[in-house]
Amino acid sequence: MGCVAAEEEAAELWAAAHGDLGTLDRFVARRVAGEPLAWITGQTTFCGEVIVVHPGVYVPRWQSEPLAREARRRLAPGGVAVDLCTGAGPIPVALGCRRGFARVIGTDLDPAALACAAANGVEAIRSDLAMALLPALAGGVDLVTGIVPYVPSEELARLPRDVLTHEPLGALDGGSGGTVLLERAVAEAAVLLRPGGSLLLELGGDQADALAPALAGHGFGAIVVARDEDGDVRSLWCRRA
Ligand SMILES: C[S@@+](CC[C@H](N)C(=O)[O-])C[C@H]1O[C@@H](n2cnc3c(N)ncnc32)[C@H](O)[C@@H]1O
Repeated sequence: MGCVAAEEEAAELWAAAHGDLGTLDRFVARRVAGEPLAWITGQTTFCGEVIVVHPGVYVPRWQSEPLAREARRRLAPGGVAVDLCTGAGPIPVALGCRRGFARVIGTDLDPAALACAAANGVEAIRSDLAMALLPALAGGVDLVTGIVPYVPSEELARLPRDVLTHEPLGALDGGSGGTVLLERAVAEAAVLLRPGGSLLLELGGDQADALAPALAGHGFGAIVVARDEDGDVRSLWCRRA
């Protein structure tokens, strides 16, 4: 799915208002003030799945769908996956957790995100990245995904005004260079994954290069840097040796 056109937005707001003009007026006012559409309608779609999105929770982006589809290709039925920083839980849902395709554990620090993920049928655990899963799951995980905060702190001010005004900064701020949580994710995934297991991380800019020493140091290889149709780096896929 691409970005939502104005006509589609209007149709979604109308449907969510259930034909009540007063409600529609309030919805339009919120949207004009820059609130994310999904917070107003209460849902979005991701990889063809309806995802409940509570106000205050990061809205899943269609740009993350290729990572989710690659993750699905790499996970066998009955496998075990961990989705770091799961937010509303779109990656576990895309991995088929609602249909019992695999066990997918989502972690997050934000109670609002955890409640939203649970509402989406995701096994969601309060954890600073994977800390609460260690050592119990060490070496027993087939796949780790992470759309961790990766916007460099020094670039936060350049985000679109609506994003800065409404979306939770804790979902975006990746620290200096944006790689603080990415580097931790690499280290913790190395402990979680079985040999041959996959790690898929969303990132951008030159962050794949910045992460190369950490990946090598933690025994990751078969590295693929995935780009979008504009040639911009979007994610990194690799396997634990
Ligand atoms: C960019 S959002 C991604 C959410 C979801 N994966 C998605 O694609 O919609 C990042 C999420 O990471 C969570 N988060 C931030 N720091 C965290 C940490 N140290 N450990 C776990 N979750 C964290 C935020 O609460 C937020 O829900």
